[in-house]
Amino acid sequence: MNMPMGASVPNYAAMALEELDVSDPRMFQYDYWQALFARLREESPVHFQADSPAGPFWSVTRYEDIVAIECDTETFSSSPSISMLDPEPDMILRMFIAMDPPEHDDQRRAVHHVVAPRNLQEFETLIRERTVEVLEALPEDEPFDWVQLVSRDLTTKMLATLFDYPWDERNSLTEWSDMFTSDVRLTGGEGATREVIIEHITACLQRFTELWHERKGDGKDTFDLIRMLQADPNTENMVDDPLTYMGNIMLLIVGGNDTTRNSMSGGVVFLNQFPDEMSKVRQNPDLIPSMVSEIIRYQTPLPHMRRTATRDVEFAGKRIAKGEKVVLWYVSGNYDERMIERPNDFWVDRPSVRNHLSFGAGIHRCMGNRLAEMQLRILWEEVLKRFERIELVGEPQRTCNLFIRGFTQLPVRVTRFRS
Ligand code: HEM
Repeated sequence: MNMPMGASVPNYAAMALEELDVSDPRMFQYDYWQALFARLREESPVHFQADSPAGPFWSVTRYEDIVAIECDTETFSSSPSISMLDPEPDMILRMFIAMDPPEHDDQRRAVHHVVAPRNLQEFETLIRERTVEVLEALPEDEPFDWVQLVSRDLTTKMLATLFDYPWDERNSLTEWSDMFTSDVRLTGGEGATREVIIEHITACLQRFTELWHERKGDGKDTFDLIRMLQADPNTENMVDDPLTYMGNIMLLIVGGNDTTRNSMSGGVVFLNQFPDEMSKVRQNPDLIPSMVSEIIRYQTPLPHMRRTATRDVEFAGKRIAKGEKVVLWYVSGNYDERMIERPNDFWVDRPSVRNHLSFGAGIHRCMGNRLAEMQLRILWEEVLKRFERIELVGEPQRTCNLFIRGFTQLPVRVTRFRS
């Protein structure tokens, strides 16, 4: 995307270390983040920034340091928040991604079987049907926006299926998801204010509370995330604790939405940038699962998560004080040449391709990772069967968001195989 008049890419190589701004979401919007993180990995892998819209914070940028911190949950807590922003004192939503053991483990256990292998198998047919429907409806030989017609539509339908959410209201799920991650302090001032976000949280909670009560005791033997919470002794009364209920709903809405959506878009961009890799998959579709993992690494749709030091600690030669924010930059770890061979190459048959940090690591490693991989695998199986060409026909437009790395628009043209 072209930068606005008067703006320019910072010359990260020439700046003093303390001048580097790791909190500026424009680095993702205009895609110039690589040089910043390469410099930090080399010269200041555990780096302090004294001032930012989210306050002072440490940045951890090497793969192995990120894993070490994720595995030490006693020193580096996920509470009170995994966002760089602290929760609003009057609205502390409780979600298990922002909890430590043992509470985290109990709540994760209550919902994790929704993505167990047996359920995924059951979902596969449904996801394939929806994917085919969406692809069959695409315009041919004329430009359209892949984000709107494919990535958004498919992930919204998937989310509605997981919650068994009223079908004709399903777009609210995506609107809420976008809203929850668009705080002005993470979006260079372009997002939503606190008041607007709270309005949307309240509307979402109200609708999910109605659905909980409609389903409770209706005797139906169907399966969805709300019924699962109702069925587990640890969470059966969660609706009576609205901040916990809402926190978990929000986690599942955001977790299952922007991430997969932006990987669906990223794949199109990377296969256009690396046409030889596209030829490899076309010749050998067995490479699709490996390509999917590579797409997820290359995209890293959630560029970071935050931890908070529970005590004064020395880490990699730096003294981190109790209470300080520690930001784990997955997007940097995934391009760390110490761990990833030729990290800047998009490489569909990369060895050990699942060894990336896009899903995090340790006890919080993404609960939906197999589901996301399955959605992307099915999408590419069906795309490659149908389309001889998927061409980018304009500049991708990217999100201006520090927490979500993705696309707002992707002009594409597809050409079907002629029989
Ligand atoms: C490409 C798609 C996805 C990516 C890149 C992704 C990424 C992540 C990351 C980075 C974390 C935090 C890991 C950590 O702190 O160590 C996470 C956690 C989580 N994700 Fe995903 N995610 C994806 C898809 C999904 C889907 C489809 C679901 C829906 C079921 C989901 C549900 C969750 C949940 C519930 C957690 C919290 C896990 C915990 O705290 O124990 N994610 N995800």
